[in-house]
Formats: sequence, structure tokens, C-alpha cells
Amino acid sequence: MRVLMIGSGGREHALAWKIAQSPLLTKLFIAPGNAGTAAVAENVVIDINDHRAVTDFCKLMAIDFVVVGPDAQVVAGLGDDVRAAGITCFCPSKAAGQLEGSKGFTKQLCDEMDIPTAAYGRFDSEAAALAYLYTQSAPIVIKADGLAAGKGVTVAMTTEEAEEAIIDCFSGTFGAAGASVVIEEFMEGEEVSLFVLCDGENILPLTTAQDHKRAFDGDTGPNTGGMGAYSPAPVMTREIYEEVIERVIWPTVRGLAARGTPYQGVLYAGLMLTPDGPKLVEYNARFGDPETQVMVMRMESDLLPLLHATATGTLKGHDVSWKDQYALTVIMATDGYPGTYGKGSEIQGAEGLDSETLHVFHAGTRRDGDRLLAAGGRVLNVTALGKDVKEAQQRAYAGVEQIAWPEGFSRSDIGWREIARQFTNSD
Ligand code: AMP
Ligand code: GLY
Repeated sequence: MRVLMIGSGGREHALAWKIAQSPLLTKLFIAPGNAGTAAVAENVVIDINDHRAVTDFCKLMAIDFVVVGPDAQVVAGLGDDVRAAGITCFCPSKAAGQLEGSKGFTKQLCDEMDIPTAAYGRFDSEAAALAYLYTQSAPIVIKADGLAAGKGVTVAMTTEEAEEAIIDCFSGTFGAAGASVVIEEFMEGEEVSLFVLCDGENILPLTTAQDHKRAFDGDTGPNTGGMGAYSPAPVMTREIYEEVIERVIWPTVRGLAARGTPYQGVLYAGLMLTPDGPKLVEYNARFGDPETQVMVMRMESDLLPLLHATATGTLKGHDVSWKDQYALTVIMATDGYPGTYGKGSEIQGAEGLDSETLHVFHAGTRRDGDRLLAAGGRVLNVTALGKDVKEAQQRAYAGVEQIAWPEGFSRSDIGWREIARQFTNSD
């Protein structure tokens, strides 16, 4: 099978690394890729926002299967255009991708299908949003309806902060994404993510993970795309998992199918484990970054046929197996991320570290001769396996120690919740 992967982050390096191991693969391209993906695929320069350029490339290179990584291309409907050109594509339709592209769309589906989630109101004007706010109490959550590069959510601790967030949204800070605002009840609890492949009708649950969204240790500092993750996340017990599959995942899959917009792709459910049971925080219509990096390290099965079966409605009968180990990834980011940061600093010692239990996935990197340079906010994902989350953490940080990059930083406590749970009493 000749495959084109779309994207350039750590998630795409991880997917490409895993797909490259498939006996079904004959050739793997990645557009645009990064310095790390060049080791497992052929990087190609195409504008991935130009759907015609993507389909032209596919025809020229006889591509059988396209795998779309990033949310922007899902929401823009790249999958629809690739399919219209007669090529199989792992990417939900633009209609079903609204699960990620519009918070209001997802909340409405939750209403329709009785999916547990935070109570909410959706407003198209500042006056209506403020009027509703004054009937509620803080803490309260304000969300720009559309995709806002992870910056459209404010968890407001006071009504004044919520007012500011509403005014900010309607003043155009998030462009069209902020033309409509969702105001949500604040949910208390621990967050966990579940990844489920869905072919429109059948599902294949993959695994759980826990992300660390804040920039600094102890979950402080600004929100980021994710500074590290581990998998599995035992905080999601078997019982909670079954409840989520029954009350969240199946109603979503059935609800979208009944509307005539079946979901084909990976459903990434962000959940809050509240005292009243698990509730949906949000859906993403693509794999998580960095959750994918830990997922592929643990996956024993061949990923390529699973993605293909998802895209072709033939998931029934497929299974997935996992190593009986934990995986943990630490993100190395450029100083200043998620705010403004410089580009082009040199990274040394990041290559040649890979082993059975350690893998350094690249995100924002590029090569200049034989020098490796930082070219983005999140730059490297040092990912390790271990018999428990503590061993995985030790191995990942041993990897981080080997890398000399004065302009970079990482958190030193990835996995802390699970380590506290598993080890506080015994060591
Ligand atoms: P989202 O983009 O919807 O995932 O929101 C980003 C983050 O904001 C989530 O990962 C949560 O940490 C937090 N968040 C979103 N909605 C709520 C809510 N209703 N209650 C508490 N925290 C929330
Ligand atoms: N790690 C969060 C995300 O992929 O959205």
C-alpha cells in the first residue's frame, strides 16, 4: 500500500513511525513532515491547505491511502476532497468533523442523545451571553465556538473574568471561531482521554491516556497543546470505561449515523471524572498530540490495517493488542512556548538515543546540513516504555538528560498524578 500522511507534528512522526513498520506498506510519504519523519518516510513539500495540490500529488504518485493527522485539515474537509478524487482517506467528513470544529454542534448532539456533559448555553451576541452569565455563578467556563488553536477556552474563577472572556470573544480575538460562544457549567474532577476508532457504524476502542496541558510543573502556567502524557490511564477504571462506551461513545456514533453524517475516523473523547460520573468535556476528531506518541509505543498490532478498515467501513472483526507496559512522553519545547519563542536554536544529542524502550519523536524540527534545529514551539517528544509509570518516567527523563538544548525546556513531573496514586503508600 502506498500511503501519504498529512502533518508535521510529533503525532504525525509517531503515526508514520508505526505505519512504517507495517508489512502492508510499500511506500510512505509525509507532507510536510519534519526532520524526524525523514527517517521513516519521504518528506514532501506540498501545501496541505491546498486540497487540489494534495489530490494531484496522490494521483501522480499512485497513492492508495491518505492519513490526515491535524485538526485544521479535518475541519477544512480535506478528507471529503481526497475521497472525491477516488482515494481512500482516514479522516472524518467535514460534517462529522464538526464534533471538533464546533463546540455548539457537539453540545447539541449531547442534548439530542442524552450524553452526560456540562450544562451550557450557546449565544451569538455579547448581550445575550452576558445576560445568561448573570444568571449563573463562578467558576464558569467560556468557550469560543470554533477552532481557536487551543486558546478559545477560559475557565473563569470569577464573574468578572468570565465577562472579560465573553467581551474578548465577541471583539474578534478568535476571528470567526468566536462569532458564537458556549458558556458551560464548571466540572470538578480529573481529566482523562479515550481514543476510539469508528468506521461509521462499528467501533474499536483503542486506549486511554492522560495529558498535561499546562506549561509548568504542578499543572501551573498557561495552557499548551500538551507538555507530556502517559498511557494507559488507570484512573479510568473498567467500570468507568464501560460507562463511557455505553453513555458517551455509542450515542455519538449512533446519533451521527442517524443524522446521515456517520463518523469515520478516530474519536478522541476528553472526559472529566466528576463525582457524578464521567462527563464529556470535548471531542476531537483526530488523534491526540502527544497522546499518540505514547499510544504507538504500546501498540502491538499493525496500525495500518486498522486505519484502513476505519476508512473503509470494515472495522468489524478487527482487534487491537497492547504491550503490558506503560508509556510516558516528555515534551521538550522552545523557551517562551506557548507564547512567543525564537526559532533556529541548535539541539545536540537527540539522535542515536532510540532503543526498544525509548524513542525520540520530532515535532518542530528541521535539519541544516547535519545540524538539528528547533523550528517550532513543541520540538521533541522523548517517549519511553516501562513496567510501570515510574519506570517509564525515569527512562524518559534519562533520555531528556542526554539532549543538550539550552534554549529548550520541559516539565519535570509528567505522570505525577498516577505516580502519586501508585507509589505514595508503598515507597
Ligand atoms: P477544551 O478545549 O474544551 O478541551 O477545554 C480546554 C480545557 O479546559 C479542558 O481540557 C479542561 O481542562 C478545561 N475545561 C473545559 N471545559 C470545562 C468544564 N466545563 N469544566 C471544567 N474545566 C473545563
Ligand atoms: N493533547 C491535546 C490534543 O491533542 O488536543
